Amino acid sequence: MVYIAPSILSADFSKLKEEIEDVEHGGADWIHIDVMDGHFVPNITIGPLIVRAVRPVTQLPLDVHLMIENPDSYIDEFAEAGADLISVHAEACTHLHRTIQHIKAKGVKAGVVLNPHSPLHVLDYVLKDLDYVLLMTVNPGFGGQVFIPEMLAKIEALSDMIKAEGLSVLIQIDGGVNAGNAKACMEAGANVLVAGSAVYGFPDRKKAIRDIRDAT
Ligand code: DX5
Ligand code: ZN
Repeated sequence: MVYIAPSILSADFSKLKEEIEDVEHGGADWIHIDVMDGHFVPNITIGPLIVRAVRPVTQLPLDVHLMIENPDSYIDEFAEAGADLISVHAEACTHLHRTIQHIKAKGVKAGVVLNPHSPLHVLDYVLKDLDYVLLMTVNPGFGGQVFIPEMLAKIEALSDMIKAEGLSVLIQIDGGVNAGNAKACMEAGANVLVAGSAVYGFPDRKKAIRDIRDAT
């Protein structure tokens, strides 16, 4: 069983409400929201204002992926805007343990994100505190990039780490995920699949979500 989290980065922002309702009715499990600041990644996208605006539009959990420098300064705002899950990049957090506790203290589920090059061992002393780990399967910044195949071994290694510690931390993956590689990702141990272009790139979102789910 995998959760599917369409990324609204690939949605039509001129009708965001309809775009979110479309994937909710199409069987999505979470709504993935990509927050980019033009510093940590070379793109600027969404702030807490949009999270607050879409909160009443859907029953689904809002999964906020912070690709920003100094995420600590914005956790309260995103939590109060209605985020159900917040993930921060290990590469952007000097005091990662503190940041995780901050997210949890706001009553929000906490995730840590690793860029493709970042080793898993940065999670060694925080894994048990996490609700999920997000492994980037592309370099963050843009939708529509190609899945980096070496990440399959990383998903598997993380899955082994989680099992070895007897934890139930979810493994989310993000970037280039589609119906063609979803099965391999799931077999490697991924249980939350973010998909932007593989959902919003098709006119029939229900079919696009079903195709990914059927492939797993
Ligand atoms: C990339 C973002 C992703 C992106 C995924 O930096 O974090 O969530 O929207 O888009 P696709 O699925 O098209 O690679
Ligand atoms: Zn993302």
